Amino acid sequence: MKIRFARDEDYAAIVRMHKQTIRNVNKNDYTPEEIKAWSGRTSVKRFRDSAHKCKRWVALDGEKIIGFTDHPLDKCEIWGLYVHKDYIGQGVGNKLIKKVEQSLLKQGCKNIKVESTITAKKFYQKQGYQVKKKSFDLIENQKVTTYILAKKIK
Ligand SMILES: CC(C)(COP(=O)(O)OP(=O)(O)OC[C@H]1O[C@@H](n2cnc3c(N)ncnc32)[C@H](O)[C@@H]1OP(=O)(O)O)[C@@H](O)C(=O)NCCC(=O)NCCS
Repeated sequence: MKIRFARDEDYAAIVRMHKQTIRNVNKNDYTPEEIKAWSGRTSVKRFRDSAHKCKRWVALDGEKIIGFTDHPLDKCEIWGLYVHKDYIGQGVGNKLIKKVEQSLLKQGCKNIKVESTITAKKFYQKQGYQVKKKSFDLIENQKVTTYILAKKIK
């Protein structure tokens, strides 16, 4: 497995993978209406429009995109961390979170915040993140439950 910076030509594959993961992995923790709204929101345009505001990486198995993560340039936050549905539980998430944390550390961050899905909450807790509060993301008219977690780094 290799990790490199995401490129513009990756976005179609990233979006396909993102939708698949939401529909196949996150579906266990959310209602069909929430999954529909959430998976419908992701798009090449959305990724492209945010590209200059963040650092973003993809994980690759050969040429195939099997995960991505990103963080904003001006905040100590993780935006997204998604692994391909067929590669869950194989250490891809571990490698991606190390990459994003190292980059935030270089950016001068001492505290990292993440708005996690219900699905990923235990994954983040395993990485040392602590739950600060329950929250939600309003997507269309769906209140999608999330958790705000934080971790001190050095
Ligand atoms: C959360 C996610 C990124 C984890 O990626 P992954 O590649 O499956 O995780 P890894 O295989 O690297 O596992 C890392 C560690 O976390 C643990 N872990 C991962 N998911 C877990 C879960 N749901 N419950 C408990 N532990 C979990 C693993 O056991 C492993 O522990 P270890 O290091 O002691 O072996 C992945 O499941 C995913 O994409 N989920 C759906 C998308 C999502 O909700 N993303 C978060 C958006 S903020």
